Amino acid sequence: MTNTISLLGLQWGDEGKGKIVDHLAKDLDAAIRYQGGHNAGHTLIVDGKKVVFHLLPSAICHKAIKCYLGRGVVVSLDALFEEIEEASDVIGNIEGRLVISSACSLIQPYHIKLDQLREKSNTITKIGTTGRGIGTAYEDRVGRRSVRVSDLYNPSKLSSKLEEALEYYNSIFKHSFGSTAIDKNKLFDENLIHAERLKPYVGNVINEVRDLQDSNKKILFEGAQGALLDVSLGTYPFVTSSNSSVGGIASGIGISPTDIDYSLGIAKAYTTRVGEGPFPTELFDDMGKYLAEKGGEVGATTGRPRRCGWLDTVLLSHTVRLNGIDGLCVTKIDVLDGLETIKICTDYSSNLSMEEILESMILEDVEPIYTEVAGWNEPTAGIQSFDQLNSNAQSFIKRIEEICNVPVIMISTGPKREDTIIRDYPL
Ligand code: GDP
Ligand code: IMO
Ligand code: MG
Repeated sequence: MTNTISLLGLQWGDEGKGKIVDHLAKDLDAAIRYQGGHNAGHTLIVDGKKVVFHLLPSAICHKAIKCYLGRGVVVSLDALFEEIEEASDVIGNIEGRLVISSACSLIQPYHIKLDQLREKSNTITKIGTTGRGIGTAYEDRVGRRSVRVSDLYNPSKLSSKLEEALEYYNSIFKHSFGSTAIDKNKLFDENLIHAERLKPYVGNVINEVRDLQDSNKKILFEGAQGALLDVSLGTYPFVTSSNSSVGGIASGIGISPTDIDYSLGIAKAYTTRVGEGPFPTELFDDMGKYLAEKGGEVGATTGRPRRCGWLDTVLLSHTVRLNGIDGLCVTKIDVLDGLETIKICTDYSSNLSMEEILESMILEDVEPIYTEVAGWNEPTAGIQSFDQLNSNAQSFIKRIEEICNVPVIMISTGPKREDTIIRDYPL
């Protein structure tokens, strides 16, 4: 029986995770984010209207679902309250339906400021971050100096933590960037105001999740970003600063790794990436532009154009294996409608062995080797059954299954909840 299901992006993010969460949500009791922060941008179409969730689990728009932010999430309270307000039409009053772990680390304005100053500077490797203070907040988390949610309710501890932090950050702002200082008193007051507003949401995620597990509720572990952006397993240093692979779930919530009954991987039928970093199958020609335009490939958080390329099954097979994926969902197959041929990268040409490439994840010098498959003219857009897909689209899916050695259990044929083919329902 499947009670707990993880949902992970297997590329560089933006695989269509939000849409698939929305599709599964009717059968869920709870959804938990366990890493990342408001760098995520998960798009749903609710009653014909586009809604983007950044920090809140995408399942929050289903009113019967209890949502959690586990201890592995870095929380900007400004972003949280803004999102709650912006989405209020769709999510209604979520008090009692959203629980935030008291152990979450907070993103403070100094994290955002340093992230943005670094990205603008010419002396430090530019990652192309979302500028949300994600990496800098995680630096403090592993540096054991974060202001955590629980600290908001201990004013003297909060005050001394902010004092210590600002001594450090203001010195960097001044000496490394010639920038202005952040005022301690103002920041302290803002934190106290946020603390009051946050109170109804703060809770014990470990206990609540245990209770849900004990009563056999259906729980979704909702991933943000993608496996290739994982700080440990991704294309370092061009990654985000959390464990966006399956490894992040246990520590980011407080469950055992054996508590995951089913791992659902999400991959686009092609590949996209936002920000800097290697991308072997990137297309710089008209085909790249075509995919970007047809796929509407614009960042859901920063509005930056996404880089586009063919499906890379070297990397996809790797992330399927790394994450113990039981079933794959291939999204945006409709974007490939009307192409005469479609390329799939199945190997790399490089001086290094494949084992060395995947161990280092240094992909700068690899050349993709492609297999060409026949495209199709009959639209897949909006189709809801595998039998109705044209035979070339079916062959494309079967090819992915063979190469990646995993069943494709779902196919997404459009941005709406119902534009989905289910071959083997995971819940
Ligand atoms: P996420 O970060 O993984 O949730 O993905 P994003 O929301 O950032 O980006 C996915 C984009 O593709 C969004 O604009 C979705 O509305 C859209 N989308 C999702 N699935 C499909 C699909 O099957 N076909 C098409 N055409 N668009 C899709
Ligand atoms: P979702 O959940 C795509 C990328 C940024 C940058 C790198 C580091 O919508 O799939 P960060 O701000 O996290 O320090 O930036 O990671 N990135 C994403 N790319 N989708 C995302 O989230 C991303 N979250 C971060 O573009 O390259
Ligand atoms: Mg996204």
